[in-house]
Amino acid sequence: MIILGIETSCDETALALIETRPAGAEQSAPGGIECRVISSLVHSQADLHNAYGGVYPSLAKREHGRNLVPLLHKILEGLPVQEPVEPSHYARTIESFRHEIEPQNPELFESFAAAGFLKNKPFIDRIAVTEGPGLEPALWVGINLARMLGELWGIPVAPVDHMEGHIVGSLLSEDSPSAGWQRLRTLPAPALALLISGGHTELVEIGSVGRYKIIGQTKDDAVGEAFDKVARLLGLPYPGGPHVSKLSHEAFEEGISSPIKLPRPMISSGDLHFSFSGLKTAVLYAIRDHYKETGTENGKALPDAFRKGLAREFEQAVSDTLVSKLQAAIEKTGARAVIIGGGVSANHALRSRFQALAAEFDLPLYMPSSHVSGDNALMIALASALHPAEPRAMKASGTARL
Ligand code: KG4
Ligand code: ZN
Repeated sequence: MIILGIETSCDETALALIETRPAGAEQSAPGGIECRVISSLVHSQADLHNAYGGVYPSLAKREHGRNLVPLLHKILEGLPVQEPVEPSHYARTIESFRHEIEPQNPELFESFAAAGFLKNKPFIDRIAVTEGPGLEPALWVGINLARMLGELWGIPVAPVDHMEGHIVGSLLSEDSPSAGWQRLRTLPAPALALLISGGHTELVEIGSVGRYKIIGQTKDDAVGEAFDKVARLLGLPYPGGPHVSKLSHEAFEEGISSPIKLPRPMISSGDLHFSFSGLKTAVLYAIRDHYKETGTENGKALPDAFRKGLAREFEQAVSDTLVSKLQAAIEKTGARAVIIGGGVSANHALRSRFQALAAEFDLPLYMPSSHVSGDNALMIALASALHPAEPRAMKASGTARL
């Protein structure tokens, strides 16, 4: 089966094509399938949003609308044509969507209606699209493209939960997620996922692929959001996570320690929940105090050593908190494997802390390769292959429904 994945939940416009086939009887891959990544394309809008210090929803929506069809053209280039679309069906489909989609997503509709390559139906068996959670205006662009393609080519469209995508993305092999046919990593039950992204921080108990229970989550900011806000305070571009991490690493290499000690939020709360907004505020206060103590004008460039030391302490505070909650969750659930997912999982300092924890408990640890740690459509197509949703009317939503 060939699945086209579509992801537009935030500021990455992403498409992917995967092929799946039943795994041999002797294999215990989750969902019993093997997977081959045909292509995975991600177009990041980060540079555009940088000027706003974060994702600007109406800009994200417009950019998805502009970029999706050209990206689709590119990804379909290598795929054989199954049959031409019957001209009257083509014309009817365009007209039937005009009233609804042209006013909502003019860029998408215009490029769709002008794209001659869509008149050939490719060998695709299913379209999988992120339905939520995410920015609603951005999500609708992907959903609307999926609906139009589904109708035009007569292909079923399946909604996918973005967070489930981050879980299954870590089942791809870490070294070479794009190389040939691969068995997915096996998932003993119960497994535990720690999802750390720009919008979410969640601990999820997994009975099997498709059976999830959220057992811990953030009460305010997500980890990635805290990284991005702290980056802004330190004068770094968006998305800030990798920049904070780089400063922290430099502090480590140069032996620079923090000017202050930051809190480890909710580390002794006795539950599995998180809170990161106080940590960000503590960084803000540390910067304010620095200006006061040194008699420097507010907003003036901070000394390098101060920024590096603060970045290092912030990253350390985040690591201590995540590791402590993950350990508590392992102990509580008796997890037999741990999955880390979401954009923040690219952080090297965090990855080595998770590795140490998993080794201590002698548990398999599945972390995404750099190809799939950030938002992408490969994980969306894969989630649909492993856990196909019943076809139904879709509605973009900011909330998760794992
Ligand atoms: O999963 P993702 O790509 O998008 C959402 O679904 O939110 O995660 C994006 C988040 C951003 O907040 C970004 O700053 C953070 O992941 N991030 C990192 C690193 N790389 C990306 N945070 C810390 N260290 C990193 N190396
Ligand atoms: Zn994400």
